[in-house]
Amino acid sequence: MKILVTGGAGYIGSHAVVALLEAGYQVVVLDNLVNGSVEAVNRAAELGGGEATFIQGDVSDRALLNKLFAEHACDAVMHFAGLKSVGESVEQPLRYFENNVAGTITLCQAMEAAGVFRLVFSSSATVYGEEHPLPWHEGLPTGTPSNPYGRSKLLVEQLLYDLPVSSPRWQISILRYFNPTGAHESGRIGESPQGTPNNLVPYIAQVATGLRKSLAVYGNDYPTVDGTGVRDYLHVMDLVEGHLAAMVALDKRPGVNVWNLGTGQGYSVLEILRAFERASGQEVPYHFAPRRQGDVASCWADPVKARDELGWKAQRDLDAMMTDVWHWQQANPEGYA
Ligand code: WQD
Repeated sequence: MKILVTGGAGYIGSHAVVALLEAGYQVVVLDNLVNGSVEAVNRAAELGGGEATFIQGDVSDRALLNKLFAEHACDAVMHFAGLKSVGESVEQPLRYFENNVAGTITLCQAMEAAGVFRLVFSSSATVYGEEHPLPWHEGLPTGTPSNPYGRSKLLVEQLLYDLPVSSPRWQISILRYFNPTGAHESGRIGESPQGTPNNLVPYIAQVATGLRKSLAVYGNDYPTVDGTGVRDYLHVMDLVEGHLAAMVALDKRPGVNVWNLGTGQGYSVLEILRAFERASGQEVPYHFAPRRQGDVASCWADPVKARDELGWKAQRDLDAMMTDVWHWQQANPEGYA
């Protein structure tokens, strides 16, 4: 079976390439390299013990997609391509809607024309909004995400629901990620943020290597275990294994299926920092700063639906996540640059 991986040169997509190749799938990667690297695809292919066909281009390029599907008989698409910086999305909402929403529409149109109807879509826990009690489960109504990035994910979820109504051939899984972190255990591929990292773990990793001075902890007065924000961090290899399970499950589950991908366990910012210090043996200086706008106090998944329906459960613990990030960061202090 041949799988198209959009965004396969990025952080999560490249780990998916490893898992797909290891499982014996053929892989075609489509990536515009705005936030990805060919080196990530090469290393992923090496780790997966196979080959991945790399095509540089955009999911918004209909002619390119037509050609791709004509040349490669794809059985399914894992759609990771998209912009993902919350702050940037506030500054450039139209760019986010164009890439994430219009890009997905073009991809689905090309899939339909080519007779490819299996889609695994990367969504986000942000679609739950901020109102619901924890843990968040798939039966909850979606809420109002607090930024254009989150709204772009919600809009795509909504439009995907209409596809199987138009044609029963569509088989779609929507995967709502909590907080992916970690890296492949080899330290060969990992997250390579451009500029200042927005997310907690990449920032901590850069403080640990001395690239940055001190972590600003956004808020220490939340109603949590130590006053700092609590999130459900999961290992990127667990995350991509969840994608494979979801893709296989599509055959028995027509229509749209939604699954959370999280561990069900929350950790505070300070707990993450301590875990990273344990894994790296480095001290990570930090200081308290005001709350970041749009942050919730706590968020974690109810992972039961994925466990019951996919037989998927995150296997790797927090120490493994931090150890693998440290290996990656040490071996690649500049990312793929
Ligand atoms: C985690 C915790 C921060 C940085 C975001 C998106 C989400 C998803 C993943 C992506 C929070 C605190 C962070 C720092 C800090 N999207 N923090 N200092 O906000 O849960 O989720 O990324 O593709 O949609 O919203 O993740 O890693 O930014 O923050 O104290 O320098 O760390 O306040 O409590 P978040 P995060």
